[in-house]
Amino acid sequence: MSYYELCNEVAEAIQKAVSGLIGKPEAGVTLRIGADGTPTEKIDEVAENAALSVLEKDGRSMRFVSEELGEKRIGSKPEFTFVLDPVDGTFNAVNNIPFFCVPVAIGGSDLSDIRYGYVKNLVSGDVYTAEKGKGAYLNKRKIHVSSVSELSGLSVISYSYRPHVVAINNHKVRRVRVFGCAALELCYIASGIFDAFIDMRSMLRVTDIAASKLIVEEAGGVVTNGNGKPLSTELDVTKRVNMVASNGMVHDKLLELV
Ligand code: IPD
Ligand code: CA
Repeated sequence: MSYYELCNEVAEAIQKAVSGLIGKPEAGVTLRIGADGTPTEKIDEVAENAALSVLEKDGRSMRFVSEELGEKRIGSKPEFTFVLDPVDGTFNAVNNIPFFCVPVAIGGSDLSDIRYGYVKNLVSGDVYTAEKGKGAYLNKRKIHVSSVSELSGLSVISYSYRPHVVAINNHKVRRVRVFGCAALELCYIASGIFDAFIDMRSMLRVTDIAASKLIVEEAGGVVTNGNGKPLSTELDVTKRVNMVASNGMVHDKLLELV
C-alpha cells in the first residue's frame, strides 16, 4: 500500500466514524486532557481510535504520533513516523462550522524531515498531498502558491495575541481571515487562495502543521518560525512552535511585522 493509500484509508475511516457526531453536543464532551496538554473531546477519541485500528491492521511497523494518545509504537521495528491530528478544527466540527480536516504527515524524527504530507477536508472531500521533491497536489492536480508581492494586496490568515500581537492585523493588507483549522488554512496558502499564514501564539503542535508545511513548501512557498529560521522541532505532541508561511514573495516583509 502506498503512503497515499494508507493516509486515505485512515482519513476515510475517521470520516465514517465521526459522521454521526458533527454538530452534536455529545461530540464536544471532554473526556480527559490529552497527551498534547489540551482536552480530548469525544469526537477526537472516536477519530483517533478509528485511525489506530486501520494502522494496526496495516502490517507495517511504525511510530504513531497522535494528538490525544501522544505516541505509540506499532510493531517492533518502525519504518517511519506517522503523525496524525485525528481532527483538526474540533471546535468547528462540534459546532457544525464546515471547516475541519484530517492531516497526516509521514517522516522520521523531526518536523524538518517530513517526506509525505496528506490533508483531507472532511466537509468537501478535497485532498491535498505532497511528496518531498515532487510538488504539491489538490485532488491529484498540481497546485502553486500565489504571486502577490505587495503588502497592500495580501490575503492573510493571522493568529496572534498579547504579547505577540501581529501588526499585520492592523495593517493595510487586502483581507485578514481566521478559520480555526490550521492544517487546512495552510493548504489555502499552497493552492494560492491566500498569500500568507501567521501564527504567533506559541500554540501550534507538530500534528497541526507537519503535513501542510511540506505541502506549502512543495507548492513553492516558504515556511519559517517567527524569526525567519527554518522550522524544526521533534515529532512530539508536547512541543509548540510559531509559524510564518507565505508565497515567498512577501516573506521578509511579513517577518518585519511579526
Ligand atoms: C486547532 C486548530 C486551529 C488552531 C487551534 C488548534 P484542534 O486544532 O489547528 O487552527 O488555531 O490552536 O487547537 O485542537 O482542533 O486539533
Ligand atoms: Ca485535534
